[in-house]
Amino acid sequence: MRSFALTLMMLCATASPAAAQAPVFSAEQVERGKASYIQRCGMCHGENLDDGDFGGAPLRGSWFRDHWGAGSVASLFSYVQTTMPPDNPGGLNDTTYTDILTYILQRNGYAAGRDEMKSDEKAMEAMSLQK
Ligand code: HEC
Repeated sequence: MRSFALTLMMLCATASPAAAQAPVFSAEQVERGKASYIQRCGMCHGENLDDGDFGGAPLRGSWFRDHWGAGSVASLFSYVQTTMPPDNPGGLNDTTYTDILTYILQRNGYAAGRDEMKSDEKAMEAMSLQK
């Protein structure tokens, strides 16, 4: 009986991997990300993240929250990496994408801390964007 309950618990745990942790990133990383963002994304998405040209969608505020706020950092990362910038998807290295992401997160009110965000899919899956 006991092992049955244990198996059930383990099944539940694998069925719904918990995205429980808040995003982890550092202030220095945000600064690096900002510089890359301005260079690689700003012309379309705007210096203010919602005032770009060339049809870039807003990257902050309620638009961002509605699109990404229920998911994990990993889903945002994989979207950005596979589609952005539109003329060169996947063209930046993982560290640069990650840094840019932390800048976007910081501008959406997520708090920077001590540790850097690593370009690691598993770690990103564990970071929830739910507030
Ligand atoms: C040439 C213009 C252009 C550049 C450069 C560009 N984007 Fe985009 N981006 C777009 C457009 C257009 C969309 C809307 C795509 C759609 O809705 O299918 C978009 C959508 C997005 C979205 C989804 C927004 C949402 O919630 O609807 C994210 C996130 C994003 N871009 C991030 C980035 C990042 C990060 C960079 C820099 C590495 C970047 N983009 C560079 C034009 C651009």
